[in-house]
Parts: sequence; structure tokens; C-alpha cells
Amino acid sequence: MRAIDIHAHFFPESWPDLAARFGSPDWPAIKHTEKGKAVIMLGEREFRHIHASCWDPELRVEEMERNGVDLQVISSTPVLFGYERPAAHALECAQMFNDAALELSAQGRGRLRSLCQVPLQDVDASCKELTRCMRAGHLGVQIGNHVGEKNLDDPGIVTFLHHCADEGAAVLVHPWDMMGQHRMPKYMMPWTVAMPAETQLSIVALIVSGAFDQLPGKLRICFAHGGGSFAFLLGRLENAWKHHPVARGRSEHAPSHYVNRFYVDSAVFDQRALRFLIETMGADRVVLGSDYPFPLGEERAGKLVRESELPAAVISKVLSENALQFLALESTIGAGERQGVL
Ligand code: CO
Repeated sequence: MRAIDIHAHFFPESWPDLAARFGSPDWPAIKHTEKGKAVIMLGEREFRHIHASCWDPELRVEEMERNGVDLQVISSTPVLFGYERPAAHALECAQMFNDAALELSAQGRGRLRSLCQVPLQDVDASCKELTRCMRAGHLGVQIGNHVGEKNLDDPGIVTFLHHCADEGAAVLVHPWDMMGQHRMPKYMMPWTVAMPAETQLSIVALIVSGAFDQLPGKLRICFAHGGGSFAFLLGRLENAWKHHPVARGRSEHAPSHYVNRFYVDSAVFDQRALRFLIETMGADRVVLGSDYPFPLGEERAGKLVRESELPAAVISKVLSENALQFLALESTIGAGERQGVL
């Protein structure tokens, strides 16, 4: 069965010294340690050990072949967003990695496409960079789930989402810069506890602020990691909405009304969670996302979905058909051509 992985990351093999270029510390740098291995450094601190599949298109495609993934959509890693930096620096960094994503995709034998990144602290610059990237061949954009204290319902960010809808850009929301980290200094708890809460916060903010009521239905937006804690706690949100006017915010409808306004990926690592997610969101709203090639990703992309006991028609939707809708690939790639891509 065909598969499209919409959540996968890359790092180029090298890039300029950003700290020197911008005159500010702790920009991500890559330090190659031995053949095929490297560490992403933030100043003197080790951020993440990575391997060559991050930057080597041949290795990537080989691994996709092994896992039965036909098309992979790559995006940068949130550590490169720079939303807390001067916008001009974040823009230059975005342009550098956006062009690198296209370069890597071009070497992927037609099986790699990309999402760009934008300096989301500056709405105008973000809109311009998105337009440039869409013209250059990106399928959409990956954004962080907040900019400092601003959640996705911030008027500037909503303006950017409008622009994404107008440009036909798919939006992948990735949690980052996790809340409460001073209470989670150990055990990867920012990733296991705070990340899902960040994603839930973003979805709830878009619902109860009324942003989904304002945004056009043509906006295609997807939340990583199964939408974090959202699906499991939708009943709690719904209950608050029904009984406490203050919890309704400016939303026109109860929260469950909005589940057909967004997608979530399948990175939940548990068959019961996957079934529940599909039941809650609907079979048209879950797309394959592996978080390849990072350590918290699915080791064999698509394994959870393929090994599920869901009906074949649902598996096919989650593995590829929903992603074709989310990425609008059917409208940009003709049926004949699609055979070649997939
Ligand atoms: Co990810």
C-alpha cells in the first residue's frame, strides 16, 4: 500500500557559522564526529546526535524503500526557527534552510518534497518568505506552535494562516520551546509531557478564540504527534464549553464541531491510541507522520498503521490518501504524473 510521510526532518551536511554571522551566541551548529555521524551543538551544549540520513538523500530514499514509504515531506527542526531572535536574522536563517530543503529534495529521485520555515515573529516577512517558497517548490510551511507568549490565535499569526490558505500552502504545526521546563529538568519530560500539552494548547486556542470561525475552510493545517493531548481530552474541553460560558471564548460551536478543520499525524506509538484518534478525528483527518529520523520517531515509518487491525480502506486513507488532500498533491500533480511520484 502506498504511503506518504508528512512529518520528517532534515539537517544539511553543513551550513555557515550562524553565531559569527549574526553576532549572537547559541545558534545551532553541526559538528561531524565520525563518518556518517554528527552532533547538533547550541554553543558548547550538545543538543542532538544525528546521523547521515539527515543530510544524505541516497540513504534516506533507501530507508524509505525498506519501509515502503513512497513520498516523504521534509521540514527543518524547530531548533532552527529563531523566533526569539531579531526577525532579520531568523529570516536569513529560514531562507538558508528553505533553499537547502529544496536542494536535498531535488536529489531524492522524485520522492522527497519539503515544507519551508518562516520568521513567525514578523508577519509580513513570514508572508513574503512563504510566497517565495511556494513559488520555489515547497508544498507548505512548518511553524512552531507558539511565538514566545503568543499562541496560534494571535492576530498576526492568524493573518499568516490566512495567507497560507490563500497561497494553498499546507501548514504543519510542530510543538517547540516547551512550557514548564524548569520543572522538567530530567528524563526527557519536556518531550514526553510538555510537547503534547503545547500541541493541545495550540488547537484549543484556535477553537475557543474563534480563529477557526474566521479562517477559511480551505486552510489545510495539521498538528504533529497525533495532535498531542487534544483528542484524549476533547471530552473535558467539551464539558467545560457546555457548562462554563467563560470556557467558550468566542467560538461559535462546541469544540468537537471543529475536528474536521484540521489534520493530525499518526505518531502516537500505540494501537489503542491510533484507533481512538481515528475514531475521534474521523478517518479522513489522520495522516502518516513518523518524525524520521529522530530518536523519538517511529523506527519503521508506517509500521503502527500497517500493523493495525483497522479496515484496509482506513489504512489506505491514513497512509496516503489523506496526505494527498492535506498537501493538495492531487490538484498539482496529475494522475499520470502521480504514478511517477508515488
Ligand atoms: Co518532529
